[in-house]
Amino acid sequence: MAGGTESRHGMWSNRWLFVLAAAGSAVGLGNIWKFPYIVGENGGGAFVILYLVCIALVGVPIMMAEVIIGREGRQSPINTMRHLIKQHHRSPAWTLIGWSGVVAGFLILSYYVVIAGWALFYIMQMGSGALEGVSAAEADHLFSDFLADPWQLIFWQTLFMAMTVFIISRGVIGGLETAVRWFMPALFLLMVVLLGYAMTLDGWSEGVNFMFRFDFSSITPDAVLAAMGQAFFTLSLGMGAIMAYGAYVPSSASIFSTVTIIALLDTLVAIAAGLVIFPIVFTNGLETAQGPGLMFVTVPLAFGQMPFGALFGTIFFLLVSFAAITSAISIGEPALAYVVEEYNAKRSRVAITLGAISWVLGLGTVFSFNYWAEVEILGQPTFFDFATFVTDKVLLPLGGMFIALFAGWALPGTVVGSQLGLKEGPMGIIWKLICGVLAPAAVLVVFLASLFG
Ligand code: TRP
Repeated sequence: MAGGTESRHGMWSNRWLFVLAAAGSAVGLGNIWKFPYIVGENGGGAFVILYLVCIALVGVPIMMAEVIIGREGRQSPINTMRHLIKQHHRSPAWTLIGWSGVVAGFLILSYYVVIAGWALFYIMQMGSGALEGVSAAEADHLFSDFLADPWQLIFWQTLFMAMTVFIISRGVIGGLETAVRWFMPALFLLMVVLLGYAMTLDGWSEGVNFMFRFDFSSITPDAVLAAMGQAFFTLSLGMGAIMAYGAYVPSSASIFSTVTIIALLDTLVAIAAGLVIFPIVFTNGLETAQGPGLMFVTVPLAFGQMPFGALFGTIFFLLVSFAAITSAISIGEPALAYVVEEYNAKRSRVAITLGAISWVLGLGTVFSFNYWAEVEILGQPTFFDFATFVTDKVLLPLGGMFIALFAGWALPGTVVGSQLGLKEGPMGIIWKLICGVLAPAAVLVVFLASLFG
């Protein structure tokens, strides 16, 4: 059944479960691991502001567009697009949105699982007390020794993939509800504790200053594209993940307020992560632009110096792993739901197959930190850089742009209006302007500027 009031994959029991699940998808490694390191690589303050602007002007409308489309079609993104195209006599080319999402999903999942595996490794490390009182140099060594050993990375990657496949096999709804109900609030709480600790550090004000000073000179077309890519990544946009979740949203939920809450929660966690990590960086004289290792070097260092650090540190990496798993599930959902619909296949079987494909792809990321550290892929320094470039800077923004265009122009105004609960009139026009013109134009401009800039 398509376009009804229920999805065959189940329904969120109420609007708050959708908020929690979508926040579970949005809040993940992108906030805690990726946001701080990208801020560091792009020089801080100005980048953060660009990022916030992208969240508000591009992210929120596109997230709304994804929920509208998903809830209207009530199927996997590919079949939702097919259904809406047929119903409204649009070009079949729009299904490419769904397919590009599937490709992006495989690529993102492949490296996401590897990094989440690092968090699992650090649960063990913190729990064993091995990091108590570590120096910056020791924390750095531990991390680089870990990366140099592909077998270790593969072990943790495999474990995390197995956990993801297990949960996603049970259905997003059943598998997720418990996870998001307890672990999301716990993660918020622990971030507050860490924030309190960061405030006591000598480097606190320098860290805050780094994140919020406005240095125009660091605004380059590339930084703008990176900020936009991060906005898409952190909100799980541009590849149909939110569209897939939107298919399970009860018809009565208000889309605007729901999406705003999700975006706010997500942004809070990212900013908090930055405010925890940069004071540690400055207090210990570390590099802001050290890249993907930033969280894995700074956070153990902080816990190493704190009373009960081993305990808190273990909990922290546990929560990061949970945040990662609730995200990983949503990355796989569009492809999974599609194969289940298309072949009437068993969810668990499909989950294992898709997980295996993505696991193999992930070896490219594993080797990017050791065997293939010097192997360039199409102009990118490593396979990992290639995968993040293609997804964050190409597939997600373009996917998001076409999603906004579809919701803005291809869907009839009456359909969108009833999804949003708008009567005809000025609000409908404003929405069309934002979703159909402003958001896609912003994506296009940023994209072209960085291409030719
Ligand atoms: N948003 C998640 C994070 O910040 C990652 C994620 C989940 C994602 N689903 C996605 C990214 C879909 C892009 C597209 O960790």
